[in-house]
Amino acid sequence: MKVHEKEHSDFFEEEIKKRNIKPTIFLPLWDLLGVGLGFGSTLLGKKAAMLCTASVEEVIDEHYLNQIKHLDNTEPKLKKKIIKFREDELSHKDIAYEKGATKEGPYSILDKIIKTGSKIAINISEKI
Ligand SMILES: [Fe+2]
Repeated sequence: MKVHEKEHSDFFEEEIKKRNIKPTIFLPLWDLLGVGLGFGSTLLGKKAAMLCTASVEEVIDEHYLNQIKHLDNTEPKLKKKIIKFREDELSHKDIAYEKGATKEGPYSILDKIIKTGSKIAINISEKI
């Protein structure tokens, strides 16, 4: 998983530079909240930690799918990359469920909190 995430991050950082795009000003905050979310869910136990991975990957899946739909044929390389990255994230989600992620009982609340937070972060990042 870590190898994939590094590959994704390196690719997008390079694209941001190449295309002269200004990244969201909230990037340091998202980094901090991401670490906090990972740490916090680990404190709640393995099921919560795995659910955290699964929930985030489900939001990312949706996000990538939207991007794939919006990208036309002028960006074939970028589209191909995002399709590949989405497949990576779907495999991470499957691993998380194999390792104990669950949405049963109180975990469904955690799932909703993580998903809502992640979606808000994506929405803000698309604008600012
Ligand atoms: Fe992932």
